[in-house]
Amino acid sequence: MNEKKNSIVINGHSLNFTQGETILQVAQRNNIKIPTLCYLKGTAPTGSCRMCVVEIEGARSLMTACTVPASSGMVVKTDSEKVIQSRRVTIQLLLASGNHNCAIRNSDNADWTDFQLNVHDYDGNDNLCPVWGDCRLQDLAYEYQVAGDRFPRAISSPPVEDVNPFIIRDFSRCILCGRCVQACNEVQVNLAINFGYRGAESKIIAAGDRPLKDSDCVFCGECIQVCPVGALVEKNSRYKVRDWETEKVKSTCAYCGVGCQIYLHAKDNKIVKVTGAEETGPNYGSLCVKGRFGFDFINSEKRLTNPLIKENGNFKEVSWDKALQYAADNLNKIKNENGSNSIGVLTSARITNEENYIAQKFSRAVLKTNNIDHCARL
Ligand code: SF4
Ligand code: SF4
Ligand code: SF4
Ligand code: FES
Repeated sequence: MNEKKNSIVINGHSLNFTQGETILQVAQRNNIKIPTLCYLKGTAPTGSCRMCVVEIEGARSLMTACTVPASSGMVVKTDSEKVIQSRRVTIQLLLASGNHNCAIRNSDNADWTDFQLNVHDYDGNDNLCPVWGDCRLQDLAYEYQVAGDRFPRAISSPPVEDVNPFIIRDFSRCILCGRCVQACNEVQVNLAINFGYRGAESKIIAAGDRPLKDSDCVFCGECIQVCPVGALVEKNSRYKVRDWETEKVKSTCAYCGVGCQIYLHAKDNKIVKVTGAEETGPNYGSLCVKGRFGFDFINSEKRLTNPLIKENGNFKEVSWDKALQYAADNLNKIKNENGSNSIGVLTSARITNEENYIAQKFSRAVLKTNNIDHCARL
């Protein structure tokens, strides 16, 4: 296979490809921007949104770059007039498909008030969409300079589902891109959701169209992370915080030894949301329910800030020096009276490998016992 054979032309540039690469992959590798909505890296492309259409010389119609493999001699244009027009119509259709009441819906529109009242009736909030400023569709609407008033608006959607502690499903803002289905089925392999019904009735369903809480959903939140619009949003931050108000700090999840990389989203020095860091391993964006949603304890007033010693059945706050001395005295006493093997040490997956190593060293070298174990074995 020579170089010339495996080469295509995109926007006048001759580019090499490897067998099986799609036009989109070749373009991305060469920093040529092709917009996408449904494409989810690492999963089988579905070609459902048609945002990534490109013009291929000799082809009768526009083709989706995320599904078409590159082939030798192909000549592709990613930004021709025909391509731009097609993308504009796609965005306009999606904006008209539901409650897309962000600013890109033409605010001079005579029926704006009626529209906004409908949205208010639907989700009980008179603010603009909860993901205003953090939405792929809104970004594209600005980029392609289109509003949502070209086509008649879809007026009804199944009601908002908010009967679980973690995720709000807003069907009125779902663009049926299918990324959540791929994330749940192909990335997390939880198989909790899929497309249901047909035509205008199409929606993403769980367990025969029951709430997520009554399905196989484990509330990992992968689907929220990949949803490009405001259809899936964290319950505890929806309408309470805007993306631009938060500072994002990269950190490591403290719940277990996997060490998932996360972004802590903080407002006024309080964590309001956690997302997985997509650019880094070991998790590449995926998290479990604890890592994504279990952060309330960080700002809890009930957190211990000082050691406690139980005296006469009641806990008493003491200094670290006193607590350590108390533990040392009692361990020595037990060891002297009953021998080293009367003591056992249990460590935790919530501390680091280094801390676990120190704990076993302490047990064997100081307490002189091999009675050391770890909760991960339970
Ligand atoms: S989901 Fe996106 S496009 Fe729709 S209203 Fe919200 S911000 Fe606008
Ligand atoms: S939270 Fe996780 S398991 Fe539940 S639907 Fe979303 S991706 Fe699937
Ligand atoms: S819920 Fe979000 S990710 Fe799932 S199909 Fe709808 S828009 Fe796409
Ligand atoms: S990104 Fe290619 S069809 Fe949606």
